[in-house]
Amino acid sequence: MVEVLTDYQLVSDRAAGIIADQIRATPRGVIGFATGGTPIGAYDRLVALHRTQGLDFSTLTTFNLDEYVGLSPDHPQSYHSFMWQHLFGHVNIRASHAHILSGLAHDVDHACTEWEHRIEASGGIDLQILGIGSNGHIAFNEPGSSLTSRTRVVELAERTVQDNARFFDRPDKVPRTAVTMGIGTILEARCLLLMATGDHKAHAVAAALEGPITPDVPASALQRHTNVHVLLDSAAASQLSSV
Ligand code: F6R
Repeated sequence: MVEVLTDYQLVSDRAAGIIADQIRATPRGVIGFATGGTPIGAYDRLVALHRTQGLDFSTLTTFNLDEYVGLSPDHPQSYHSFMWQHLFGHVNIRASHAHILSGLAHDVDHACTEWEHRIEASGGIDLQILGIGSNGHIAFNEPGSSLTSRTRVVELAERTVQDNARFFDRPDKVPRTAVTMGIGTILEARCLLLMATGDHKAHAVAAALEGPITPDVPASALQRHTNVHVLLDSAAASQLSSV
């Protein structure tokens, strides 16, 4: 289902509503979280719902999509820090239930296999939140990734490094590798919630939703999933031919 709302605020409100409904319906459920600029508004609203309505995270389990290789959890630009700064630090989640891939694993392959087992042991992800890169990536599955890929180490595309440089003091500080859930891993979530806002996402959104399913546009793999909710602002939807 594709829903187009006028702006970022409305997309954020709607996303937070969907996530909150999921948490209320299945308090012991499993949510997959994303980082990046797009979900920040939705996370702010979840924090507000926790404060004003007691939205309860205490029995929830979470898995994050990805992490930079080489950044320690307390590095300000790590995705660990991001999640604690924008969401986990302000709600009653149990730290031991909030899973984020390590960027410092000694045996990365083992850590990736463990990660897959941990998701399986938790019963699988009920709702996976996703953003989309301007190059069509989901998580850090860059163009060329296998559509059945699993959790692994990847090299970031030059475009992603440039896009993410805004979060770092200097562009040369952006890590070049990351550990990411694979496209196959993501597609196993029971429901996917993709958010995209801004005209810089319009091309990727149109290619993902209306183009051929191809590793050149990793997000096009979402067309293979039967339960995808897409939330767009008008700018991100501007290149879709049918909405
Ligand atoms: C982040 C992630 C990425 C982002 C994407 C969009 O965990 O998996 O795929 O969702 O790069 O990032 P923003 O929202 O910053 O445009």
